[in-house]
Amino acid sequence: MKAIVCNEFAPLDQLAYMDVPDPEAGANEVVVSVKAAGVNYPDALVVQGLYQAKPPRPFIPGFEFAGDVTAVGAGVQGLPVGARVMGLSPAYGAYAEKIAVPALAVIPIPDDMSYADAANLACAHGTAHHALKQRAQLQSGETLLVLGAAGGTGIAAVQIGKAMGATVIAACSSAEKLAVAKENGADVLINYRDQDLRQALKEATAGKGVDVVYDPVGGEAFDACTRSMARNGRLLVIGFASGKIPTLPVNMTLVKEYSVTGVFWGNFTQHEPAVYADNLKELFQWYLQGQVTVVTDASMPLAEAPTALARLMDRDVKGKLVLIP
Ligand SMILES: NC(=O)c1ccc[n+]([C@@H]2O[C@H](COP(=O)([O-])OP(=O)(O)OC[C@H]3O[C@@H](n4cnc5c(N)ncnc54)[C@H](OP(=O)(O)O)[C@@H]3O)[C@@H](O)[C@H]2O)c1
Repeated sequence: MKAIVCNEFAPLDQLAYMDVPDPEAGANEVVVSVKAAGVNYPDALVVQGLYQAKPPRPFIPGFEFAGDVTAVGAGVQGLPVGARVMGLSPAYGAYAEKIAVPALAVIPIPDDMSYADAANLACAHGTAHHALKQRAQLQSGETLLVLGAAGGTGIAAVQIGKAMGATVIAACSSAEKLAVAKENGADVLINYRDQDLRQALKEATAGKGVDVVYDPVGGEAFDACTRSMARNGRLLVIGFASGKIPTLPVNMTLVKEYSVTGVFWGNFTQHEPAVYADNLKELFQWYLQGQVTVVTDASMPLAEAPTALARLMDRDVKGKLVLIP
């Protein structure tokens, strides 16, 4: 089969599109013929050796996929050949025509959910859902600020914030991206490249500050948020797409009585599978009711994975990219 292979941690253009042996289903595993693979920011980091996880090389990157079960290993029940599934690979491998994963890593998808939507729903929406529901316990009527609001997980947070009844403030770096955030339900728009974020938040909340911040960006935007929180607010640490991991003078949290809350969705799916399953059920329901949608910027052939990852790193994606083997 064809796959994208990372032979050594290196710039994105060093990724190889090549033939590799087909995977086989071991005990308690299934093989899935991948119809779509989600492109995520960590994929771009991990192949360059810039992520916290450093897998042994060579390896096939990608962890998010959807497709059809084509083989079932000993001990697997309830997943027949032909089942349409989405999955999260615990050991990468999704940028390929086929992948072998533990049966527990895949779940059937609704009939009217496309493979592309299924592949792209899990991580971006799953993270936003877990962050806003379990970590921030966002309440209807609260204000939610989403940084990088037209990015993969940013758009998801805008949609889910609306579904949970929040007033959503979107911050993006361009008018074009803000228009996408607005189409996805944002109530207030801030261009944080042109506007002073702290001042804009003061105006948007009539001086009260923001109840919940969803921050996949870090850097200076995070710093502005540490000075813009409402009392009892929750500042969610999602990621550092700006490349700058900020530091926090903790006296800020004392003075305003707010919390800084870490979010690690991958860990959550492993440690709390039952809660994760309930979250997915709710997410599927919102999807089928049209309350959340997957915004796909472009669908690209698998061989173009290096270009897709470079576009993410260049801040050039609205919503998500999907790779089609
Ligand atoms: N904690 C978790 O469990 C978890 C789960 C998923 C993702 N993440 C992390 O969340 C972050 C965002 O992921 P994503 O998939 O949403 O990525 P994405 O689609 O690329 O969106 C990131 C957004 O960050 C903003 N940004 C600001 N400075 C940037 C820069 N120098 N380069 C690129 N983007 C920049 C961009 O919005 P503007 O141009 O509007 O500023 C961009 O749209 C990543 O760090 C990822 O690792 C964490």
